[in-house]
Amino acid sequence: MADLTSDFLGIKSPNPFWLASAPPTDKEYNVRRAFEAGWGGVVWKTLGEEGPPVVNVNGPRYGAIWGADRRLLGLNNIELITDRDLHRNLEEIRRVKADYPDRAIIVSIMVPCEEESWKAILPLVEETGADGIELNFGCPHGMSERGMGSAVGQVPEYIQMVTEWCKKYYSKPVIVKLTPNITDIRKPAAAAKAGGADAVSLINTINSITHVDLDLMAPEPTIDGKGSHGGYCGPAVKPIALSMVSEIARSPETRGMPISGIGGVTTWRDAAEFMVLGAGNVQVCTAAMTYGFKVVQEMISGLSQWMDEKGYASTSDFVGKAVPNVTDWQYLNLNYVTKARIDQDACIKCGRCYAACEDTSHQAIAMNPGRVFEVIDEECVACNLCVNVCPVEDCITMVELDKGETDPRTGREVGDYANWTTHPNNPASRTAAE
Ligand SMILES: Cc1cc2nc3c(=O)[nH]c(=O)nc-3n(C[C@H](O)[C@H](O)[C@H](O)COP(=O)(O)O)c2cc1C
Ligand code: SF4
Ligand code: SF4
Repeated sequence: MADLTSDFLGIKSPNPFWLASAPPTDKEYNVRRAFEAGWGGVVWKTLGEEGPPVVNVNGPRYGAIWGADRRLLGLNNIELITDRDLHRNLEEIRRVKADYPDRAIIVSIMVPCEEESWKAILPLVEETGADGIELNFGCPHGMSERGMGSAVGQVPEYIQMVTEWCKKYYSKPVIVKLTPNITDIRKPAAAAKAGGADAVSLINTINSITHVDLDLMAPEPTIDGKGSHGGYCGPAVKPIALSMVSEIARSPETRGMPISGIGGVTTWRDAAEFMVLGAGNVQVCTAAMTYGFKVVQEMISGLSQWMDEKGYASTSDFVGKAVPNVTDWQYLNLNYVTKARIDQDACIKCGRCYAACEDTSHQAIAMNPGRVFEVIDEECVACNLCVNVCPVEDCITMVELDKGETDPRTGREVGDYANWTTHPNNPASRTAAE
């Protein structure tokens, strides 16, 4: 049976599933129940500096996007960091860590961008016995307007500076949590590395307005007639998070830097996808908020079963395994040719593939008498739009032409690997050849 134990920065946990810093990790009661349900670790809800805690709104703080079956796809929130007393949080962390020595407890922190503020809080956190800290440079709402959260995460120089302070005043691992609200994720990741960070975690939430109330003429969630942008998370953000994780994993500047993957992890498969793209573990928020703490049990059993099937003895056998296959567009094989194939037995004759291809792709699907839909190989460019709009899974598949076969669309034989860098239509390749 596969060994799910995880060693992230020397921090051991029985599995790679950690709860992200958010309401599920807000207090002792939650964290104890989360550990009883099986979570390998938690990142405690972000702590602020000593003194009166922040104040949250007393109206709705969430907005959402749903699929047609009302399944939650995206969640938007305007919640701040913890609104509980610092010392109460620290005492709870100390107690829970003492009772669960085999689980990871990371403390998320966000205090003003001044050395004195970090110097003051770090020894207090160290005394709790927690395994490490995570610097919240990601929260895009409320705190960012006070010069913290994503306001820091958007300036690489600040990231480096604060990380250096943390390495100076704290002895255990420092994880820098990145904001996705930037153009190039490699820059803040490199800054974290330059500051001495042991790892990065990503993504925090994405700036968003999920809906506008057309009667109130205000964004939702609406607080007394007004709304404010929030932070978006859940399954909808996973593609953005995966891409950012892979960019850090393959960038020459940050390659090999440990990554904790966050963003829309709902199933074991999501976790595996983050991990093969370079994440050493994953963190989860929305799935726990949607389905409860026990959702981790399916993640554990699913990952373990998949590892057994694939012959992976431990998670390190597959972490980063897909990174060498993430490349720039210019290196994709232009001699790889496929064609769409429709399984007539599975087809329910809805015509979606026909409408999509006829109106917006390459007029490569014929609608024959009796609503029999067939691909016209002479026209099919293999875009796979029909595969994606077809309501029946695996009804349309893309079939690869063998080397030496003639592509009926171009009349050319399928040849060896060749990419855009050497293609005759590429002016740059001509210049290089001349
Ligand atoms: C209500 C709510 C509150 C959050 N609070 C924090 C926070 O205090 N600190 C933090 O670093 N991230 C916070 N997050 C962001 C999550 O930790 C996580 O990065 C994000 O939700 C993406 O993961 P998910 O798609 O699994 O939810 C919060 C998210 C939500 C939904
Ligand atoms: S793969 Fe693209 S071009 Fe080919 S049949 Fe499907 S939609 Fe049309
Ligand atoms: S979209 Fe799928 S099910 Fe519908 S007609 Fe096309 S192949 Fe058949």
